[in-house]
Amino acid sequence: KAIYMQDTHGRAHNYLRISITEHCNLRCTYCMPAEGIALTPRPHLMTADEIVTIAQTFVNLGVTKIRLTGGEPLVRKDAKQIIQRLGKLGVKLTLTTNGILVDDFMETFKEAGITTLNVSIDSLKKDKFNQITRRNYFDKVIENIALLDANGFQVRLNVVVIKGFNDNEIIDFIELTKDSNIMIRFIEFMPFDGNQWNKEKLVSYAEILDQVENYYAVANVKRIQDKPNDTAKNHKIESYKGNFSVISSVTNPFCSTCNRIRLTADGKLKNCLFSNSETSLLDTLRAGESIEPLIFQNIKAKHAMRGGMDDDAKFQNPELFSQNRSMIKIGG
Ligand code: GTP
Ligand code: 5AD
Ligand code: SF4
Repeated sequence: KAIYMQDTHGRAHNYLRISITEHCNLRCTYCMPAEGIALTPRPHLMTADEIVTIAQTFVNLGVTKIRLTGGEPLVRKDAKQIIQRLGKLGVKLTLTTNGILVDDFMETFKEAGITTLNVSIDSLKKDKFNQITRRNYFDKVIENIALLDANGFQVRLNVVVIKGFNDNEIIDFIELTKDSNIMIRFIEFMPFDGNQWNKEKLVSYAEILDQVENYYAVANVKRIQDKPNDTAKNHKIESYKGNFSVISSVTNPFCSTCNRIRLTADGKLKNCLFSNSETSLLDTLRAGESIEPLIFQNIKAKHAMRGGMDDDAKFQNPELFSQNRSMIKIGG
């Protein structure tokens, strides 16, 4: 079935990321502008029924994994029902969250068959965490990460690395993997509308690895085999329980193995994180017509790499990347 959603570059798409809300209880600087964003009016957002219907269509076409994103997915009022219903589709379900509300979802996650969660945390220092998130939830997030771990969930921490801000915490994060099965994922800072990206703030995969190898010695840093379609280059410190990886979208893109498609909260299909050519599935669904032809059309239009911004000059050009959505309206 998966071959149905193949693009013109031979990539089969079996992983759907669904943004269920544009709202968030944090205001991370790398994700949204200080002044906020214009939110889509409620009637133009997918209802829970519409999310389930569209997700079912994708499962019929070969999707085997669904990740819920936002905004922050758990702030949505009917998040529990959505998780419960998607849990019944028989595919791998997971989510990316800032962790603030997860304590209220433990049973829901378990019932829905969720085993792994990605939690964003960019600093282990309270003042820095609060500075980058422009809110005051550090203690809650730390508490909830421990709670997830105690409840048997595999926790993966997402750390967006920003030069001069948290690149001095790389070792602190890796030390968390010493006695715990946790996974740390350092993410290269990527350019999106309104996120004040510039090249000077980027800490590259090579720089991160350099720092780690200098600290632990090259012989103690092991490269681990990545899973197929993984965005992360996986490593571990010899004798440490957990592992760490780097998501290198800027300096080492992994587009040739991309298996992802995205559905925005307003029901648009986005074939690449960096592409702004979007197809509304919601309008067609509401008109009572089949959305399948639109899905194939959108996937056929997918560029080989980064939405067509293959060379760095294009990718890093603010005039071009500001034509894409802000990260908060994509969901990562
Ligand atoms: P997996 O489902 O396990 O592969 O997780 P993930 O890393 O794809 O998901 P997550 O939402 O945790 O995202 C972590 C980082 O990877 C974020 O910065 C995302 O924007 C980025 N990311 C996720 N998918 C893609 C992708 O297809 N391309 C690129 N360039 N970055 C991606
Ligand atoms: N660059 C890299 N990663 C980002 N994320 C949000 N904005 C950016 C960006 N500009 C991450 C969040 C979250 C995931 C969905 O995407 O930290 O973990
Ligand atoms: Fe896929 Fe686009 Fe990400 Fe490349 S940048 S891996 S094509 S979503």
